Amino acid sequence: MYKLTNITDSIYYVGVNDRQKVLFENLWPLPQGVSYNSYLIMDDKTALIDAVDIGYSEQFLAKIEAQLNGKALDYLIVNHMEPDHAGSIRLLRQFYPNVQIVGNSKTFGMLDGYHGITEGLHEVKEGDVLDLGSHKLNFYMAPMVHWPEVMVTYDSTDKVLFSADAFGTFGTLDGAVLDCDMNVDKYWEEMIRYYANIVGKYGVPVQKALKKLAALDIQTICSTHGPVWREHIQKAIGIYDTLSRYEAEDGVVIIYGSMYGNTEQMAEVIASELAANGVKNILMHNVSKSHASYIIKDVFKYKGLIIGSPTYSNALFPEIESILSKIQIRDIKNRYLGYFGSFTWAGNAVKRLTEFATASKWEVVGSPVEQKQGMKSESYVACLALGKAMAERLNNKSENIAE
Ligand code: FEO
Repeated sequence: MYKLTNITDSIYYVGVNDRQKVLFENLWPLPQGVSYNSYLIMDDKTALIDAVDIGYSEQFLAKIEAQLNGKALDYLIVNHMEPDHAGSIRLLRQFYPNVQIVGNSKTFGMLDGYHGITEGLHEVKEGDVLDLGSHKLNFYMAPMVHWPEVMVTYDSTDKVLFSADAFGTFGTLDGAVLDCDMNVDKYWEEMIRYYANIVGKYGVPVQKALKKLAALDIQTICSTHGPVWREHIQKAIGIYDTLSRYEAEDGVVIIYGSMYGNTEQMAEVIASELAANGVKNILMHNVSKSHASYIIKDVFKYKGLIIGSPTYSNALFPEIESILSKIQIRDIKNRYLGYFGSFTWAGNAVKRLTEFATASKWEVVGSPVEQKQGMKSESYVACLALGKAMAERLNNKSENIAE
């Protein structure tokens, strides 16, 4: 009953859309949903590449059955064990008891740990080839893109790369599966948000994987999330390459917390001076309102970052402390940082932000501004100076004035 989308003559899309989950990994909002992609290769031997979240297993199994039409499922290739893909493996094995599960030694440790599966395994190592008849599947290890067991599978016959999470994005597949059959505009920002939040810590392993795959003739990329890339391969690879190098666009993200608007007023002055000095990309996030995933996306995207916080219970505003820890664990490199704070009777926010600045190893731009209670001409002028210093640093007109 299922009419499946062909990726090539003998590769079929059997993935599913999740339009119900509110938070991916119970952390990251999914306003446009997410897809769990899986692909079925029909050849002398049949092979399923990755599986889907257990919540969608009924629909998933029905699609596979419709295409197999009585043929056996010979192999399940497991590129990644995170449960958004691997959650349905135990059920698949119950449904297809003879399927050989293909993975590496790390895959199999997790397969035992999550599903208690220790038999019917086919272990592959770097450079191994699995012959399906016409299709030859080549395996490349890609550890820490996003978990340690991750590998990618390259079909050298159809020149298709099954890339696991790499080149994935949030957003469901609304009808079409291939990028050339849809308007892909809505995916690019979500690709950055997906990368920054899910894979963002692992820039160095992503770079290693990109270098390893550079020699392959890749005509189609089948990721585990979002569109199948064919027309826009170079753009998708380019985004992952740029983000994993921690390269950024000109622009400034201002993240601030504010209880009664005094710290916010400082942020407004800084922003207006950035604009007055030619900065066109200014992204302001009230940390109590913007979800952290959008803030982290913008920190990956833009070169400048200015953080402001009131002193709260002799520490940072709690939501600022929280976003600092989310930024810190992602080990983002090479940003320009400015910061400011306010207090009513005893200031501690700027002191804590100085500790963050030191730990970040980023270039501190301008002089930190600390304001007591409401805005006065002294703090107003200091905020203007901070905004101007950041704008000039971005425009490369001055050396680091904090040095
Ligand atoms: Fe889509 Fe790392 O799982």
